Amino acid sequence: MSDVVLRVEDLHKRYGREEVLRGVSFTVRRGEVKVILGPSGTGKSTLLRCITRLTEPDRGRVWLEDVEVTGRGVDLNRVRASIGFVFQDFNLFTHLTALDNVRIGLLKVKKLPKDRATRIAMEQLERVGLAHKAAAYPAELSGGQQQRVAIARALAMQPKLMLFDEPTSALDPELTGEVLDVMTQLARDGMTMVVVSHEVGFARAAADELIFMEGGRIVEQGPPEALFTRPQHPRTAQFLKKITALYEGGGALKDER
Ligand SMILES: Nc1ncnc2c1ncn2[C@@H]1O[C@H](COP(=O)(O)OP(=O)(O)OP(=O)(O)O)[C@@H](O)[C@H]1O
Ligand SMILES: [Mg+2]
Repeated sequence: MSDVVLRVEDLHKRYGREEVLRGVSFTVRRGEVKVILGPSGTGKSTLLRCITRLTEPDRGRVWLEDVEVTGRGVDLNRVRASIGFVFQDFNLFTHLTALDNVRIGLLKVKKLPKDRATRIAMEQLERVGLAHKAAAYPAELSGGQQQRVAIARALAMQPKLMLFDEPTSALDPELTGEVLDVMTQLARDGMTMVVVSHEVGFARAAADELIFMEGGRIVEQGPPEALFTRPQHPRTAQFLKKITALYEGGGALKDER
């Protein structure tokens, strides 16, 4: 069996006259972590949304393992149940406790019996360091804790692939580190991940490859050290220099260890 988990081929998307994706292709192998970065408005979120068809691409194809996500008659609910998606703004159900947020997909989508769903949900809360907050509602949790619940909720479904769209950009700097720690551990545990993030420390520590996007295209991709130290494209150099300066200035990552 091939170890390719995700294959994206020549994705195009336009909104009106604006071409947001102009032919994006890449492959993610099992256990690989790809970090996507690039200026605002470049199509990074659109790309992640097209992978799960939350946004319909105009052209191009996506495969998750041997299932063509863009194929006719594909079972999209099933595809989406095997991709964990973590958003910038957590997206928790505010009227449900942390435990219920993590458990709900196991009960409603996977139709597991309650005791089994509870056990799995508690294991995942434990994994993100929040077993003691199982009974808390989102409003009673910090932003970092809410995001960790969102990660636990995605993990509980045993996804083949995790997508993260700027998971720490809505957080105060002192809460960013705890979420990045969980993600770094996840990467070490062998999870296959595509992460849109400008967190330089995380990219260096956890990414197998960086993908630099601009204007709806992949400008350059490669191992983080290669991109940071010898970028081939002047736009990549310029962009990485900018975010590295922010990082070293402590703006985004005060709390990074
Ligand atoms: N539903 C939509 N309708 C119309 N235009 C859209 C829609 N979604 C995104 N766009 C446009 O597509 C372009 C790319 O947006 P996208 O959110 O993918 O960028 P991004 O790289 O994620 O940016 P950021 O770093 O700010 O999150 C933007 O110009 C945006 O205004
Ligand atoms: Mg975005």
